[in-house]
Formats: sequence, C-alpha cells, structure tokens
Amino acid sequence: MKMIFLLAGTMLAAMVWVAAVDAGPVNVESQRQQAMEAVHELAGRLGAELKTALKNGGAIHAIDICNTRARMIAEEISRKRKLRIGRVSLKNRNPGNAPGAWEKKVLEDFERQRRSGKSVAELTYAAVVRTGRGRQFRFMKAIPTRSVCITCHGKNIPAAVKKELDKLYPDDRARGFRPGDIRGAFVVTRDL
Ligand code: HEC
Repeated sequence: MKMIFLLAGTMLAAMVWVAAVDAGPVNVESQRQQAMEAVHELAGRLGAELKTALKNGGAIHAIDICNTRARMIAEEISRKRKLRIGRVSLKNRNPGNAPGAWEKKVLEDFERQRRSGKSVAELTYAAVVRTGRGRQFRFMKAIPTRSVCITCHGKNIPAAVKKELDKLYPDDRARGFRPGDIRGAFVVTRDL
C-alpha cells in the first residue's frame, strides 16, 4: 500500500514537474532580441553580397547570387543560432518564400499598419504560440523596398534582367514594387 502511494506520489510529482516546465515562463524579450540579432545578420549579409555582386557583375550576376546564396545563408544562420530564419512575401518570387497561414495574416496586418501611417522599418510581430509539437516563439520583421531593389523588383525592370528572372522564376510575383512598399518580411521561429 505504502509502495503504491509512493509510486503515485512520484508520478504526480513527475507530472507536476512536466506541467511546470511546459507552462514555465518564456522570456519573450530575450527571444525577441535573439531573433532581431539573427535578422540583422541575415539582412547584413544579404545586403553585402548583393552590393558586391552588383558592383562586380551587374544585375544579371546579382540575380544568380540571390538565387543561390539567399537560402544558403539563411540555413547557415538557422543552424548556428538554433532557430529557423527565412523570408516571405505576399508577392513572392521564389515559390519557397510563399507565406504560411499565420505569416500571411501578419503580412496583411503589416500592410494595414503601413496604410495607417506606420513606418515600415518599425513593423514587427512577436508571439509565443502552442503548436501540435509544443510551444513555439514566432517573430516577423517587415522588409522595406529601397531604391536599390527596384532594378529587380520594380515596375520597369530592364529587359535583360527580366529575361533572366523569367528563366529562373516562371511564377515570379515580386515585381511592381515602389520604394517604401513592404517587400516582404523576415520570419524567425524557434520551438521552445
Ligand atoms: C539583382 C536583382 C535583385 C535585387 C537588386 C534585389 N533582389 Fe530581392 N530577390 C532577387 C531574387 C533573384 C530573389 C529570389 C531569391 C531566391 O530564389 O531565394 C529575391 C528575393 C527577395 C525576397 C524573398 C521573397 C521572394 O520574393 O521570394 C525578398 C524579401 C527580397 N528579395 C527583398 C529585396 C530587397 C529589400 C531588395 C533591396 C534592398 C532586393 N530584394 C533587391 C533579386 C534581387
């Protein structure tokens, strides 16, 4: 009898412990900061590679760099920082950058905030949610369109650039942007 109580007690203690761990407080501010650091690293490295590629080989060469390097750099940062980082857009170029359901909602909300006068550079989202696999931290940061982006994402894309884009991205939707538009967003997720 004593044994059963002991066993039941141990099991109860284990259950309480698991529940406590699962429901334990998440330091959202710390997660948010780590996500921001990952975003800064990805933005910085993509920007630097784009600049060098444009300088060394022009827009056509830079397209190939974006095509091959963007995903590799994001994967490297994801591994290193133990999270998932990527880019999404409501008008994506790479089919792999189409937003999932919650990302689409956040992007649409960013659009609403921009229309109501908020600065695109300041639009962020952070939340802790429960998924089928447990808790997950989610972060997004809007990416503003700048004038340097227009060659490949604007309304009047030069013919040679268009040709290369058509070849690589037959379903390209990332055209027609103007400076100040939301080009997309960085997305960071981490299972907690
Ligand atoms: C030389 C052409 C070129 C320039 C300039 C350029 N991009 Fe892109 N961009 C691309 C290509 C090519 C892709 C697809 C990358 C891939 O396949 O992952 C892309 C993809 C993206 C994506 C991912 C979402 C999607 O549409 O697939 C974002 C966000 C993005 N670019 C933002 C920018 C911003 C912001 C700038 C300006 C700072 C910029 N780009 C400048 C060529 C360019």
